[in-house]
Formats: sequence, C-alpha cells, structure tokens
Amino acid sequence: MSYNVGYFVGSLSSTSINRIVAKALISVAPDDLEFTEIPIRELPLYSQDYDADYPPAARALKHAIAATDAVLFVTPEYNRSIPGGLKNAIDWASRPWGENSFDHIPAAVIGASIGQIGTAVAQQSLRGVLSFCNARQMTAPEAYIQFSADDFGEDGSSLSPRTAEFLGAFMAEFRDHIQRVLTVLPR
Ligand code: FNR
Repeated sequence: MSYNVGYFVGSLSSTSINRIVAKALISVAPDDLEFTEIPIRELPLYSQDYDADYPPAARALKHAIAATDAVLFVTPEYNRSIPGGLKNAIDWASRPWGENSFDHIPAAVIGASIGQIGTAVAQQSLRGVLSFCNARQMTAPEAYIQFSADDFGEDGSSLSPRTAEFLGAFMAEFRDHIQRVLTVLPR
C-alpha cells in the first residue's frame, strides 16, 4: 500500500530554502510515500464572493487535495507567522462552508528559516489554523530547521548524515501517522 502526499511550499521565492527542504524530505522519505506539489502561486486573494463559483486555480487546489491521502506543509516564518500566500491557500481550501478540504486529513508541518528559531512560531500559528480546519496533525516529532548549506548542500541533493537521519526519521513517523489516521478515517 502506498500513500499520496500533497505538499505545500509556503514560500513563493525563486530561491526558497523551504523548497530545498521539501526536496530533501522527499529524497529521504519511505518508499511507499509518493509526492505531488500542490501549487499556491496562481490563487487570487480569497473572498466569500467566490464561494458560488470558484475560479480555476481554486478548483484545482481543491481537486488536488481531494486526490491525496495526506498533506505536508513546508513553510517559512514571516513576521512570526505563516506567509500570507499559504494562509490564502488554506482559506480557499477550507471553503465553501461545508466543503472543507482538510476535514480529517492526515497532516504534518515543518519549516526552515535562516534564524535560530527555525519557524517555531510560524509552525505554532499554522497548527492553530489546521486544528480549526480539523486536520489530523502529527504532533511529534517537531522539526524546527535553521537552514545551512552545510546540512543541505546548495539544492538539497547533498545532505549531511545527521540531516538525512533527522529528516528521514521525521518522514518515517509521518508515514506511520498517515497509516494510523487512515485506518480509522479512510478517505
Ligand atoms: C522573513 N524571515 C524571517 N525569519 C524568521 O526566522 N522569522 C521571521 O519572522 C521572519 N520574517 C520574515 C518576513 C519576511 C517578509 C521575509 C521575506 C523574511 C527570514 C526568512 O527566514 C528567510 O527569508 C527565509 O529564506 C524564507 O524562506 P524561503 O522563502 O527562502 O523558503
């Protein structure tokens, strides 16, 4: 049995360190996880005015989440919270009322920053949002990453041994979390 994981990169930057981390996570994940990025860049700013007729980018977002077994958020911290683009995507996915795409979905949160706090505050903020959206979050292990090219290489393809081990353990736990959640809450 394999699981489809849809992943969100919270950054729109062309040089995103979180995209590098996402690539690294995929490289060390268990073989029975398959990954598809769920893009957020083309989404307009959400308004309830759209609820009766979602635009194509928002329909695609909801279809992409519906096609996954689980979601993974890899996000930077912006001003001690999550980037607006990611919050916008979550708002789109959570609506229209009664059609919340995150209801009961297995989810995990991770992020990288250049600062020592390693997105801890953003992750707590994101956890609150996902909790309200009724996602089934993996609560442990947590992973607050202070990004360093020594640990990831320039593009995430040459991980230090300790980074590969740490990220691999995180993804192995996520795989087990997905299996546990889907056993009682099949999608
Ligand atoms: C930041 N950065 C940042 N870092 C941090 O640790 N805590 C924070 O609150 C913020 N706030 C913040 C706001 C804004 C608007 C920007 C552009 C940046 C720095 C951040 O960690 C750094 O830019 C990372 O490279 C962002 O991740 P990506 O976009 O490279 O994945």
